[in-house]
Amino acid sequence: MNFFTEEQWINWVDQLAEEDYVVIDHFLSEEHFSQIMSFFSKQIDQNQLRKAGIGPSTEYQIEESVRGDLIYWLDENRDEAMRPFFNLADETRSQLNKLCYLSLSGFEFHLAKYPPNSFYKKHLDQFKSRNNRMISMIIYLNKKWKEGDGGELVIYKDTGNINVNPIANRCVLFKSADILHEVLLTTKPRLSVTGWLLYLPPQLGPILPT
Ligand code: OGA
Ligand code: NI
Repeated sequence: MNFFTEEQWINWVDQLAEEDYVVIDHFLSEEHFSQIMSFFSKQIDQNQLRKAGIGPSTEYQIEESVRGDLIYWLDENRDEAMRPFFNLADETRSQLNKLCYLSLSGFEFHLAKYPPNSFYKKHLDQFKSRNNRMISMIIYLNKKWKEGDGGELVIYKDTGNINVNPIANRCVLFKSADILHEVLLTTKPRLSVTGWLLYLPPQLGPILPT
């Protein structure tokens, strides 16, 4: 069972191919959205989120002047409650393979919480020593976000920067190697599911996600 129609995918993939990014609103069904929210709340309540670092595991470091979010890496085997989300990530992967002639064979996702006054400085999502992140995928979960709350995603493009408000149920896809981007300072807690569609599976020895 697919989440979206072929037409929807063709339309989104066209935008991704032309602009290097696409913003899709009303992405998840209400049911899936609340499943993710309750899983997220549970991880927060059980104190499962950790300070995010920068770089792959071999060069891992926590640098709060660069990024201030707390994350929880999802695991397909352990986090059974996220099954519908993994299925959706897999549909995205296979549609991109089909329509963009990519060879994406896996994905890695984490939950991310930016506490008030945190941000993520301008960066690319590929690492020098591990360049298998092809497509970045973010779904925002902030039902009460309003203008002035901050935490916008800035997408840097030669043709001008785009500010994307992190509103609930908005999905952003962009090319990880090409799009410089930044998370502006947020004044409210800012939640998302963030991840990458990979050229190689993430289980390959020393290149485990950080
Ligand atoms: C990241 C990132 C953007 C966002 O986690 O690498 O750039 O809008 N996130 O959360
Ligand atoms: Ni990023």
